[in-house]
Amino acid sequence: MTETIVGIYGASGFGREIMPLAKSQYHALFSDVRFVFVDDGAEAGSLNGYPIFTYSEFLSFEATNKFVVLAIANSAVREKLIKRCEADEIDILSVTADNAIILDEVEIGEGAILCHFTQLTSNIKIGKQFHANIYSYIAHDCVIGDYVTFAPGVRCNGNIHIEDHAYIGTGAIIKQGTPSKPLVIGKGAIVGMGAVVTKDVPPGVTVIGNPAKPLVKS
Ligand SMILES: CC(C)(COP(=O)(O)OP(=O)(O)OC[C@H]1O[C@@H](n2cnc3c(N)ncnc32)[C@H](O)[C@@H]1OP(=O)(O)O)[C@@H](O)C(=O)NCCC(=O)NCCS
Repeated sequence: MTETIVGIYGASGFGREIMPLAKSQYHALFSDVRFVFVDDGAEAGSLNGYPIFTYSEFLSFEATNKFVVLAIANSAVREKLIKRCEADEIDILSVTADNAIILDEVEIGEGAILCHFTQLTSNIKIGKQFHANIYSYIAHDCVIGDYVTFAPGVRCNGNIHIEDHAYIGTGAIIKQGTPSKPLVIGKGAIVGMGAVVTKDVPPGVTVIGNPAKPLVKS
């Protein structure tokens, strides 16, 4: 019987990017560990040399310790799958790339994924299941909610509050707030790739452009 199995939940592009990070962080920590993908939608077989299991195969696999990493960008799906894993008493791992930088007084909830070249400076509070894709940063005095997702290259400057389930697209730049008036990205808001956000974004609204404005579909 394998002692430990680590499942990267999600065999999509992001999952394939996270597998090597998880392996490099955890392979030395456990004496007998196997890394697999867990994905109910993927074709059976293997991917990049790792087997793909369905969730029920993963559950029935005999191992002393079972962990998953939720490598799924869609925060609603992420939350649903985490609840499923918690119900099955499977622990959720966080993943931190070896060159991610974390400075002073940074509080991060469980299950965070910090990819290569990400940086969290000082005095930052982040909720659970945060994802920061490559080259994203968060500066001082930011407060980030639960299930927030940063695509690559997000520039989140100081004194910004981002509420639960917000999604920030590739290369977005968010203007700094102030201690008395932080800039707020509302719950479930989406910031499009390349947007320059200069004002608060209301909950659930998608903004694009420079300066960022609500996306109006014709
Ligand atoms: C903003 C966003 C969420 C809108 O997605 P959508 O609702 O599917 O919108 P559509 O693709 O139908 O685009 C609607 C219109 O907005 C435009 N548009 C979409 N995203 C835009 C953006 N980021 N900046 C400027 N214009 C944009 C489209 O060209 C289209 O214009 P048109 O009506 O003149 O043809 C999406 O385009 C986006 O930016 N997602 C983030 C992508 C990303 O960062 N991925 C990272 C993967 S790791």
